[in-house]
Amino acid sequence: MPKITIIGAGAVGSTAAQRIAEKELGDVVMTDIVEGLPQGKALDILEAGPLLGYDSNIIGTNDYKDIEGSDVVVITAGIARKPGMTREDLLKINTKIITDVSENIKRYAPDSVVITVTNPLDIMTYVSMKTTGFEPHRVFGMSGVLDSGRFATFIALELGCSVRDIKAMVLGGHGDTMVPLPRFTTVSGVPITELMPESTINRLVDRTINGGAEIVNLLKTGSAFYAPSASVTNMVEAVVKDTKRILPVCAYLSGEYGKKDIYLGVPVKLGKIGIEGILELELTAEEKKALDRSAEAVKSGIASLNSLS
Ligand code: APR
Repeated sequence: MPKITIIGAGAVGSTAAQRIAEKELGDVVMTDIVEGLPQGKALDILEAGPLLGYDSNIIGTNDYKDIEGSDVVVITAGIARKPGMTREDLLKINTKIITDVSENIKRYAPDSVVITVTNPLDIMTYVSMKTTGFEPHRVFGMSGVLDSGRFATFIALELGCSVRDIKAMVLGGHGDTMVPLPRFTTVSGVPITELMPESTINRLVDRTINGGAEIVNLLKTGSAFYAPSASVTNMVEAVVKDTKRILPVCAYLSGEYGKKDIYLGVPVKLGKIGIEGILELELTAEEKKALDRSAEAVKSGIASLNSLS
């Protein structure tokens, strides 16, 4: 069985552990800085095994030694933005956490593929790649799978059709500047631009862009974790089963889409070694402009890392 480590046993991490165990994608190790939390949640998930009929082993730990030999490491450790906290405050705190976590991954799981989830996602993925020193194809982030899942959900609700037939594409940074691409979003192969008026598409695009905030507003405390953990599970599955799925992923660009030394959401081929290739879509001038704007936002976030102490 592949060994899958999840760092951060919070809402996203523990639900991802549950989904991964239920699908028997591998044995799971869950870690956290809080003592007892990963152990308690891991034992609870393990005890559901006989009831649901899965054989994955799952342990919780506070010791990084236990992640040795991991094939995949998922980083969900971090804090969420709290009222009164600026984006800069969040960036500073999570950069420190991701740096610490990544140093331990480098030391204890030097051959792993790393999937980041912590926000601000594109910047945290950059920090993890730089800190581990791993080849960029082995360090990538979960953003587009979730954003395109949300887009697909809203399209299905609008059309009253099955979500199964919808393939949605969302590029760019994971946030306000993401770039949903209606031209590359299809229902059984038919682009949605042929199925809905522009005004409807714009409404669904806006809802997708604000998808995370919509859930935060409803929950009042906490943020989304069911769909985020499902997105992580899809990506882990693509890696451990070497499926070579084409998914929108936060990937390191070195010239693709005219961008360099930046992480941005683009369609990639995912397999055992991580990102096996980046697909370059032919974008219209307007789509390109939106992607450029997104890249600028990520670039300025990366640039601000230098001023953190
Ligand atoms: N090492 C390990 N675990 C840590 C560390 C650390 N240095 N710092 C914090 N954690 C743990 C916390 O103890 C907590 O259990 O990370 C966990 C985060 O869990 P939640 O607060 O429940 O956050 P969650 O909703 O799971 O989101 C995690 O994913 O989607 C993103 O924006 C979200 O950045 C956030 C991350």
